[in-house]
Amino acid sequence: MAFTFFFRDLHTIELTVKHLLPFISGRNKVRIWDAGCAMGPEPYTVAIVLAENMGRFAFRNILFDATDIDESNTFEKIVTEGIYPEDELKRIPADIFEKYFKPADKPGFFMIDEAIRSRMQFKKHNLLSLKPVGEDYSLIICKNVLLHFQPEERVKVIKMFYDSLAPGGYFITEQTQKMPEELAHLFQKVVDDAQLFKKI
Ligand SMILES: C[S@@+](CC[C@H](N)C(=O)[O-])C[C@H]1O[C@@H](n2cnc3c(N)ncnc32)[C@H](O)[C@@H]1O
Repeated sequence: MAFTFFFRDLHTIELTVKHLLPFISGRNKVRIWDAGCAMGPEPYTVAIVLAENMGRFAFRNILFDATDIDESNTFEKIVTEGIYPEDELKRIPADIFEKYFKPADKPGFFMIDEAIRSRMQFKKHNLLSLKPVGEDYSLIICKNVLLHFQPEERVKVIKMFYDSLAPGGYFITEQTQKMPEELAHLFQKVVDDAQLFKKI
């Protein structure tokens, strides 16, 4: 169930970052929520793409809430340490890998750069509690999670995301997920070829 990998659906992530940058420009506090982050490759991918596009100085204003129900109780340690086996890092472009990963103490494992890791905080959280982990998010990412919920649960969870977003904030989900009709009036679809939405 926690299938995930680094640089998954890069198309959506790059489009999101392109639209997000003007929105967060000049803010000294930017909050991002990755809901259903699994072992962390997704929020770390978004963080790396952001760092590449905004520079390390501005990137320090960003704080990620990476959350998951984490039924195995193993994700917190992995996300917090930011240490992954080399096998799981093969999709990362070589120049990005060189720049953001250093060998860890364990042979065959690499650790994500401190500047990225320090902006990531993991919280164990059940989306179906419908209690948000924070507010005023500039971006909420929830990919490959909503498909596991009943249609009425999906509506309630996306409504919770809407309430937790800053005015004009962004929400992304996976390509195959559609915005429920009941909520369509709350979001503007930003592009045709990705499930990228802006809070109205
Ligand atoms: C297929 S993974 C998706 C990981 C990542 N978002 C991605 O797209 O690569 C689905 C994740 O959703 C989490 N999940 C399932 N039900 C959840 C719930 N009710 N609340 C929070 N997370 C949940 C699972 O633990 C799992 O890590």
